[in-house]
Amino acid sequence: MIIRAENNNDYSQVRAIHLAAFEGPGEATLVDQLRAKATPIISLVAMSDDNNIVGHIMISPVGLSGHDDLNIMGLAPVAVLPEYQNKGFGSEMIRSAIKQCQQLKFDAIVVLGHENYYPRFGFKISTEFSIRCEYDVPAENFMVMELYEGALTGKTGTVKYHPCFANL
Ligand SMILES: CC(C)(COP(=O)(O)OP(=O)(O)OC[C@H]1O[C@@H](n2cnc3c(N)ncnc32)[C@H](O)[C@@H]1OP(=O)(O)O)[C@@H](O)C(=O)NCCC(=O)NCCS
Repeated sequence: MIIRAENNNDYSQVRAIHLAAFEGPGEATLVDQLRAKATPIISLVAMSDDNNIVGHIMISPVGLSGHDDLNIMGLAPVAVLPEYQNKGFGSEMIRSAIKQCQQLKFDAIVVLGHENYYPRFGFKISTEFSIRCEYDVPAENFMVMELYEGALTGKTGTVKYHPCFANL
């Protein structure tokens, strides 16, 4: 399994992965829009042993109200082709993306997702922080990871995703 940066030859395969993994075209279109409009982004693909792209992850900046000085990233979306799911591709992509965020000295990462999946990577339920999501979602599905100790200590606010997310 290889995780590498996405390049411009990968776009159609990446789109196909999101179309296959999610119910509608929303996430596939979101990826195309974020790639064009959000900066900086982290966009990685997972390659199978026979050299096919079988997974993709994108991370883009989010804002925390009242804290323009913080660099917080939002993990979304992440997808693996259905026939390759539960083989570790998603986990490897998530770990690589977190590592890149640390190397780039971002402050924190947020994710909206399943409460049984993301804690294994170090995400904590958002209620452990004074940070809320702009969307009306169950508290346990909005999770936060500080990229160094105390990154979010004393920080209060609402996380706002890139405007492209409004079309989801
Ligand atoms: C979620 C997803 C990216 C995980 O990738 P993956 O390669 O299948 O996952 P891994 O092999 O690394 O990890 C497997 C674990 O994830 C869990 N898992 C897989 N999909 C899950 C989901 N949608 N919700 C919660 N847990 C999930 C499995 O139950 C398994 O748990 P276990 O280790 O406790 O047995 C992939 O299943 C997928 O593309 N799902 C459809 C799209 C989606 O829901 N994306 C996430 C929302 S943005």
